[in-house]
Amino acid sequence: MSSVKKKLFIQTLGCAMNVRDSEHIIAELKEKEDYEVTHDLQSADLILINTCSVRERPVHKLFSEIGAYEKAKKPGAKIGVCGCTASHLGSEVFKRAPYVDFVLGARNVSKISTAVNTPKFVSVDINHDESEYAFGDFRSSPYKSFVNIMIGCDKKCTYCIVPQTRGDEISIPKDIILNEVRKAANGGAKEIFLLGQNVNNYGKRFSGAHEKLDFSDLLNLISEVDGVERIRFTSPHPLHMDDKFLQVFSKNPKICKSMHMPLQSGSTAILKAMKRGYSKEWFIERALKLRELCPGVAISTDIIVAFPGESEADFEDTLQVMEKVKFEQIFSFKYSPRPLTPAAVMTNKIDEKTASARLTLLQDIHNKMLDEIVATQMGAVHEVYFEELRENASVAGRSSNNFLVQVKGSEELLGKLVQVKITDPKRMVLYGKII
Ligand code: 5AD
Ligand code: SF4
Repeated sequence: MSSVKKKLFIQTLGCAMNVRDSEHIIAELKEKEDYEVTHDLQSADLILINTCSVRERPVHKLFSEIGAYEKAKKPGAKIGVCGCTASHLGSEVFKRAPYVDFVLGARNVSKISTAVNTPKFVSVDINHDESEYAFGDFRSSPYKSFVNIMIGCDKKCTYCIVPQTRGDEISIPKDIILNEVRKAANGGAKEIFLLGQNVNNYGKRFSGAHEKLDFSDLLNLISEVDGVERIRFTSPHPLHMDDKFLQVFSKNPKICKSMHMPLQSGSTAILKAMKRGYSKEWFIERALKLRELCPGVAISTDIIVAFPGESEADFEDTLQVMEKVKFEQIFSFKYSPRPLTPAAVMTNKIDEKTASARLTLLQDIHNKMLDEIVATQMGAVHEVYFEELRENASVAGRSSNNFLVQVKGSEELLGKLVQVKITDPKRMVLYGKII
């Protein structure tokens, strides 16, 4: 007699690391607790929300969301809060939402089985245990696989809550990584997406005695694994963009030509107050060097406007860096004070009106820049890895330099690398034809 599986509804907020953590949670619950995933909240026996705490808004969103879950759920269904907000709020979550059944921090997701079976379970420590590095076998995409290469972060950027939620930076031993990569490639994933807070600082510290190697060496090793056609990674840190890394990035054909270079601010004074460890000039020099070594590379960035003390001149510096580097993609945010971070107690806060005006101006300037970049794509040829069916008998995928490209076609294109000529470039999507 086959038993009816229990149903898990899981919502994932935040970054790719959280997506991977959710995959691990799903794998554990399938294997050990006989759950299957549902997208229907009302039929769920367990509702999980895997949270992000990097800015204030997602934290507010958490409490409004779980309040709605509590009202909508079927009687007896459990609610668990996991991830970075769980890490920094701990049992405080129960005070604000007493109906929550357990709280599991970002570094504790391997304890999900215990959590579902223990009333009011809380685990939010940031110790590390090598036995918990290998993740379960569940992948949300058959075409690309996330693989963790390090956990935590040692940088002390003064605005950032991550060191509190994910702990010290520790590199995962290469044999574990290569094993994960082989499993993913054997499962049909041609693209491997490496994850860590400062990936190009890989190899600085392991939790035990392990062979030393740096990120560039690791990239080369992964590129030799059978079945791996593409490698992406996030996030590198501008400070660690040494010549060796830029050379390997540019020369290894398996490495996708899309680099994330989180600028945060273009003002050396603000970068200092943020404790980023590099100057405006260093950032520009590295970005232009990358463009020289790697023609066709797309550079994306993160920018925070209105960090405490940011003057008009500081903000102008950020705009200048934008003009010089001409980022293909920008993720921009207003500074948001986070608990327990040094910047949260800085007294020279920027008022909301100025912050909003700066964000709007920056985004407007970037949109104009993007129109120029997009126009140059007319007639360009890209190798596209198709991953997604779209409306109007179309399929979409990414070029090596991470443009979203769409063509007419059907599922037989999924999972294939195909040459496409761009015939109608738009800001969000480059439309093209297979050649
Ligand atoms: N306020 C605003 N943005 C932030 N980020 C991180 N912390 C904060 C904060 N306190 C942004 C940074 C980072 C991205 C993931 O989120 O730009 O690179
Ligand atoms: Fe990811 Fe940082 Fe958000 Fe945690 S706080 S989910 S590490 S972006």
